[in-house]
Amino acid sequence: MPPPQTSAADVASVGGGRSRARRIAHRTRDTCVSVLCSRLCSILLAVILVAGVALFVASLSLRPHRPRFALASFSLSGSVPGGKAEFNVSECNPNRHIGIYYDGDTRVSLRFYDALVASGPAFPAGWYQPNMTTVSVAGVLDVVGPTHGDPAAWHSFSAALQAGRLPLRLELTFTGVRFRVTTAFQLQLQLRGGRQRMHVKCYVVVGGDGRLLRGSVGAPCDRYL
Ligand SMILES: *[C@@H]1O[C@H](CO)[C@@H](O)[C@H](O)[C@H]1NC(C)=O
Ligand SMILES: *[C@@H]1O[C@H](CO)[C@@H](O)[C@H](O)[C@H]1NC(C)=O
Repeated sequence: MPPPQTSAADVASVGGGRSRARRIAHRTRDTCVSVLCSRLCSILLAVILVAGVALFVASLSLRPHRPRFALASFSLSGSVPGGKAEFNVSECNPNRHIGIYYDGDTRVSLRFYDALVASGPAFPAGWYQPNMTTVSVAGVLDVVGPTHGDPAAWHSFSAALQAGRLPLRLELTFTGVRFRVTTAFQLQLQLRGGRQRMHVKCYVVVGGDGRLLRGSVGAPCDRYL
């Protein structure tokens, strides 16, 4: 009688059964781990997405808008040179939660093309414009030109004044502009790192009487920050 044979196939099948069970257990654990992992991953992704959107919205609302300038009034009186130029430019801070500091000097100059007509300080350094307010930058300048020393400019200036249409350019230069976030906690956060220069150009057209022509009243000015 042949000895009972434990066939290789049987051993293989028993061993195979054990290893299959182990493999199934492994696979189940792997599946659990991967399900957990993908859940965690999707939660993490959702959190990152929400945080990103929140940051984007916050940065949009905190990004400073440049102040807006418009010509409120202007007049030229007296002789040229020797007369006076009176200007009044309104300045609006359109930011809901951002105040503006003007640390440096602010200068104003008035030009007829390249020729200087008048210049001077517009307002002293070191003032603060709160959020959502409008102020006026106004003053009176001594008219110093164009002079007879620059005959070409003097002649075209006189001719334009006589023709009742004199184009002038009023330029404001702010040397130290800073934006600051104002929060409900009076915490102030500085934006865009430090002081900046800002140039403003208002195009003015006055008539023969030295007063603004109608189209120039309230005209917005160009800004370069
Ligand atoms: C400048 O214009 C504004 C608005 O028209 C006015 O309220 C303000 O009093 C003027 N300022 C000066 C100094 O004329
Ligand atoms: C200016 O900002 C403060 C603080 O963020 C806020 O409480 C206040 O309402 C703002 N003022 C205006 C006119 O919006």
